[in-house]
Amino acid sequence: MTRQKTKYVCKDCGYETPRWLGKCPSCGEWGSLIEEVSSLKPGRRLGDVSMGCAPRPITELESTGAMRLTSGISELDRVLGGGIVPGSLVLIGGDPGIGKSTLLLQVSGAVSRDVHVLYVSGEESSNQVKLRADRLGIYSDNLLVMPEVDMERIEHWIRNISPGLVVVDSIQTVFTKDLSSAPGSVSQVSECAGRLMRTAKELEIPICIVGHVTKQGAIAGPRVLEHIVDTVLYFEGERHHSFRVLRCVKNRFGSTNEIGVFQMRDTGLSEVSNPSEVFLSGRSRMVSGSCVTASVEGTRPILAEIEALATRTPFGVPRRTTTGVDSNRVAIILAVLEKRAGLGLSSCDVYVSVAGGARLNEPATDLAIACAIASSFRNALCHPDLVIIGEVGLSGEIRAVNRIESRVAEAAKLGFGKCMIPAPNVGLRINHENLQVISVRTIGDALELAMKR
Ligand code: TYD
Ligand code: MG
Repeated sequence: MTRQKTKYVCKDCGYETPRWLGKCPSCGEWGSLIEEVSSLKPGRRLGDVSMGCAPRPITELESTGAMRLTSGISELDRVLGGGIVPGSLVLIGGDPGIGKSTLLLQVSGAVSRDVHVLYVSGEESSNQVKLRADRLGIYSDNLLVMPEVDMERIEHWIRNISPGLVVVDSIQTVFTKDLSSAPGSVSQVSECAGRLMRTAKELEIPICIVGHVTKQGAIAGPRVLEHIVDTVLYFEGERHHSFRVLRCVKNRFGSTNEIGVFQMRDTGLSEVSNPSEVFLSGRSRMVSGSCVTASVEGTRPILAEIEALATRTPFGVPRRTTTGVDSNRVAIILAVLEKRAGLGLSSCDVYVSVAGGARLNEPATDLAIACAIASSFRNALCHPDLVIIGEVGLSGEIRAVNRIESRVAEAAKLGFGKCMIPAPNVGLRINHENLQVISVRTIGDALELAMKR
């Protein structure tokens, strides 16, 4: 006998209540509770991943860490911490049309050179998958395509074929008959993900699932999905730029601060192994309001151009707009420039952006943002041959940053002649021929030196 249950579920955090409420008591979101009718067979729990084995000492367990599967795409392998771990469930989230299906089909194509890959498509017909595969140049007998949305049948075929990798595109289209709620609903998505998790662990098969992202940036349906899976990757980028960044936000088997950079071309995604060169291409050296900084993303230093525009505001309240950098940090930097360097920015609209669609979240880029704004405000050129690195403190002091050696080395590698670094960082092993290191202690010094003729 099955139990019928009507409940209200928060689509953001997965909170459940028997009554409708205007505001979710768990995450505080308004209007996020949606009605779900579901029936569950007795004796089963949602998201049950136990495999019914007896407890054993940790010393007797086998480790499979060394046997990672290489995805054939080195940028992805690096983001995953050295390849795909057998038995792991990897979620790839991203806006519609950003290239999730393309990436996973390319991975499937590469992996299928060695092992069988099962590509379950819930969104596209076999024909459409074939068209895309032709475009990407994927021809492999080991790549098995199955248009399917029924969880039971997907599980059946995974057990039957026992492939080396499974791709499910997307989790929102898959449903199980055990629950009567619609595909894509919170309970369906978490139940199906839980089942895939159990299958992956039991058969030691890695499974990649695609998850759609809502306008607010969360993976559609439940946040709980992020808790179930082993690894969460976000595929992001500006729609009008060809660059795509794969960012890891959760990883049970590696670090989470690694990024992979790709470029979308006519023939699919190609890896960008030298992002600095790409982000700096098209730089206009002879205008004010532009300077170059070195940010460390994961283990890799990346040079990027920061552009700023400060113009007199026609309104009482000045506008501050940023792309690619945190607007709160820019607000602090503007306050420091006003108070500690005497720049009258309170009557200026200020726009800051990172060229090429990159996103920089590190405090080490503060000083470059400050120099770009000051350069535009004073209409004075920043030295075009200079890379600016440093964190700006509230009293206008320049603070030390981590991994300074690799940042300076990247600047030297790309042929820059000068590098401005925080004075507390001096004394570390940073000697590069043909590269002059300028150390600065305060924001005032930094602005003078960056714009010196
Ligand atoms: P897709 O992988 O379908 O996105 P998602 O699965 O994340 O929704 O990518 C679709 C976009 O990628 C589409 O706008 C066209 C573009 N694209 C290319 O530019 N080149 C290609 O070779 C392919 C396959 C897609
Ligand atoms: Mg898709």
